[in-house]
Amino acid sequence: MQDELVPTIDISPLFGTNLQDKLKVAEQIDKACRGSGFFFASNHGVDTLDQLVKTTRKFHQSLSDQEKWDLAIVAYNKENTTQKRNGYYLPIEGKKAVESYCYLNPSFTPDHPKIKDNIPCHEVNIWPDPQKHPGFKEFNEEYYWKLFDVSAAILRGVALALGKNEDFFDEHFTKEDTLSSVRLIRYPYIENYPPVKTAKDGTKVSFESHEDASLLTVLYQPFVANLQVEMPDGYKSIPSSDDCFLVNAGGYMAWITNNYYKAPIHRVKWVNAERLSLPYFVMLGYDSIIEPFVPHSPNEKSKLRPLSYGDYFSKARVDLVISNGQT
Ligand SMILES: [Fe+2]
Repeated sequence: MQDELVPTIDISPLFGTNLQDKLKVAEQIDKACRGSGFFFASNHGVDTLDQLVKTTRKFHQSLSDQEKWDLAIVAYNKENTTQKRNGYYLPIEGKKAVESYCYLNPSFTPDHPKIKDNIPCHEVNIWPDPQKHPGFKEFNEEYYWKLFDVSAAILRGVALALGKNEDFFDEHFTKEDTLSSVRLIRYPYIENYPPVKTAKDGTKVSFESHEDASLLTVLYQPFVANLQVEMPDGYKSIPSSDDCFLVNAGGYMAWITNNYYKAPIHRVKWVNAERLSLPYFVMLGYDSIIEPFVPHSPNEKSKLRPLSYGDYFSKARVDLVISNGQT
């Protein structure tokens, strides 16, 4: 698949040792990030995407209302949880169709220092009953680490594209501390679909224009195309891919690069179809600070101040709920 708007980039060299090959990938990443801001990553090495779809469909189809309630994040169930990020995001009959389950870094166990110290954005994952959902937790924890590796490879390419060493992000993107999350989002087919919003250009949308609260987003969204990216001459549709990840920069990337790589503004077009959207939001550690710089211009001063990932994300997350509503 080759598309001017969303190019497909073979990222396999980023897993290897040949720097020249990696620089060629970096050049393509640079072009994409300076263009629409989106690209498809092919040859990523994740061979369990079919299983991901099957496991996720089965999970959503078999989850009872009581389980959804028990797993709900605090926005839906103030009584029995303090979980703000990890857990179930419920549909509301007649009002909101989308539902999702979010999980965080499996390294966040009760004895993790940031969990012990109650640092915001860190939570121990709650999982559904293993009797009712055998293998679900295991499959997803494994998927988390696969996507961590894919993201680390993409970040090597991004670092080179920004004129840095390929290990530039390594100290900030660690298995121990990453705030990255996976969202297993289900959009159902409903005969009497609840009311959806209409954008200024008349397009019906499931999720309004926004930039992602992340460093990068690595999305698997097969079968149904429904994303649109804002370009100078209006919104353009992004195709779907059954075997590639769709990658785009988030707000923190824009911040540290002085908007050299913008976080592309995009929206979710309303489509009444049973479909999945499975993003891995690539995040740094809470205390990570990457000093903003002007790529390829070492003598130019940054206009933006240093901001820790934790401070960035805490605000960006809440801002997104305020502007676009609780998902
Ligand atoms: Fe998004």
